[in-house]
Amino acid sequence: MSDAFVRVEKRDELAVVVIDRQDKLNALNADVVRELGEAFESLREDDDVRGVIVTGAGEKAFVAGADIGELAKMTPLSGIQVSRDGQDVFTSIERFPKPVLAAVGGYALGGGCELALACHLRVASDNARFGLPEVGLGIIPGYGGTLRLARLVGLGRALEMTLTGGMVDAEKAERIGLVSAVFPREELLDRACAFMGEITKNGPVALRMALESVYLALDSAPGEALRFESALFGFLASTEDMKEGMSAFLEKRKADFKGR
Ligand code: COA
Repeated sequence: MSDAFVRVEKRDELAVVVIDRQDKLNALNADVVRELGEAFESLREDDDVRGVIVTGAGEKAFVAGADIGELAKMTPLSGIQVSRDGQDVFTSIERFPKPVLAAVGGYALGGGCELALACHLRVASDNARFGLPEVGLGIIPGYGGTLRLARLVGLGRALEMTLTGGMVDAEKAERIGLVSAVFPREELLDRACAFMGEITKNGPVALRMALESVYLALDSAPGEALRFESALFGFLASTEDMKEGMSAFLEKRKADFKGR
C-alpha cells in the first residue's frame, strides 16, 4: 500500500488512520481516497485491531473537503465516477466490521464532513467546524452526504446545512447529535482513544453483529430487520465471546473476549 497521504498507527488494540496532506488541509484527492480504502482493507482481517479511529494530521483540519483543484476539471461522466469511487470507499467504512470513530480536529467540510458521517461515531475538538459548502461551488455533496446527514441529525438540520453551505461549530454539532462528545484540541486523540476503549472492551463478535443489525435495518423493511436481528441474536449463542461475557458477569470478574 502506498503511504503517501494516509498512514496507519497502532495504539494497543486500536488502529489510527491518519490523513496527512497538510498543505491542502488534508483535502481528498483521488490518491487520498484510494489510500483510505486500502488502509481499511488492510485492517479488516487484522485480528489485533478491535477498533479504528480516523483523523487528520495537523492542527487546522480533519479534512477540508474533496480536492477542488481536481473537481474543477471534472466532466459529467468523470463526475459520476469520482462520486462513485468516493461512495464505495465511504460505504466500506460505514459497513466496516469493527467500530470506526472519526476524531475531528478543525475543519470537516464537504467530503471531510461526509467521511465523518460514514464513520460509526464522531467526536470533535473544540475548534471543529462542520459544513457542506458544495452548493457554493455549484455542486452537491457526492460522497453520501445527502443520505447520511439527514439520517443522523434529521431532515431540517440536514437541509439547513446542505442548502446554506454554512459551518456548524463544535458546540452546535454536539447539540444536534452530529458528534457524541467535544474535547480540547490538544486532548482530542487521547480522549478519542479512551472513548473507543469503552467500546472495544466489549465482545468483538457482538460489536460486529450489532453493526450488521443496525445498518441492515436502515435498508430493509421492519419485519425483515427484526427477523435478521433474531437470527444474529441466536447466532451469538454459538460464540465463545457469549460464554465468556456471561461467565465473567456471574463470576464477578472482567471479561477476556477473544473475538470468537
Ligand atoms: N481542495 C483543495 N485545496 C484546498 C481545499 C480543498 N477542499 N481546502 C483547502 N485547500 C488548500 C487551499 O487552496 C490552500 O492551498 P494553497 O496554500 O496552495 O493556496 C491551503 O489548502 C490552505 O487553505 P487556506 O484556504 O489558505 O486556509 P484558510 O485557513 O484561509 O481557510 C478553509 C480554510 C477551510 C475555510 C478554506 O480552505 C476553504 O474554504 N476550503 C474549501 C472548503 C470546501 O469548499 N470544501 C468542499 C469541497 S467540495
